[in-house]
Amino acid sequence: MQPKHISIIMDGNGRWATAKGLSRSEGHAAGAESVRACMKAAVKAGIQYLSLYTFSQENWNRPEKEVAAIMDLMSYNIRKELPEFHENEVALKVIGDMDRLTPRLRAEIEAAEAETAQYKDHTLILMFSYSGKWDIEQAAERFAKDYGTPSQKPFESYLATAGIPDPDLLIRTGGEQRISNYMLWQCAYTEFYFTDKLWPDFREDDFDAALESFKGRERRFGKVNR
Ligand code: IPE
Ligand code: IPE
Ligand code: MG
Repeated sequence: MQPKHISIIMDGNGRWATAKGLSRSEGHAAGAESVRACMKAAVKAGIQYLSLYTFSQENWNRPEKEVAAIMDLMSYNIRKELPEFHENEVALKVIGDMDRLTPRLRAEIEAAEAETAQYKDHTLILMFSYSGKWDIEQAAERFAKDYGTPSQKPFESYLATAGIPDPDLLIRTGGEQRISNYMLWQCAYTEFYFTDKLWPDFREDDFDAALESFKGRERRFGKVNR
């Protein structure tokens, strides 16, 4: 079956840079090229949602200089890639705890989201300042407030990903085989694909290989397939 939503834990920027004698920040900068390649591959393959774990809540604990470089890159790349979003008719959406961002970065994100909101066939979701436990906690808080009201909606609809189907396939680059506090609720029945490729080396062919692997999986959702 064709996946609707593919997600990627983009890991390995630091190791990629270190191996080349570059700074970790240069590794993050190099990762932008892989983002563009995957966005194009996803559009070509007719994938409706591509979500990318870009910056976790735990990543706020990295050295100040690295965090600042990631914030600058977020701002720079959103601006730089806007023409690509228009050309590929991709809507941009950023999900995470926006309260931790500077008002300026928040405004830039909101402007880019508004400017691309008309595109309905493809959405690129950047999970930024995001963590799975934070998401469940913020959903629980809002759910509790509404609990007992006539319009009470299911718990899931309070998650930051409300309205977006759960990932069908989760790719993690960089060789680690763990979830690192990502979409804990949403990955209940997601297929996992791990690769040793470091994120800045990941390209369209690698994306297509993951998609091919997904197509060979038998998803049972706890049932018995006949
Ligand atoms: C992933 O690459 C990007 C972020 C977490 C922001 P890393 O920076 O974690 O790279 P490695 O895992 O140290 O190589
Ligand atoms: C996960 O990678 C977060 C992102 C890719 C944004 P990390 O490098 O932060 O994860 P751990 O520390 O190896 O689990
Ligand atoms: Mg890492």
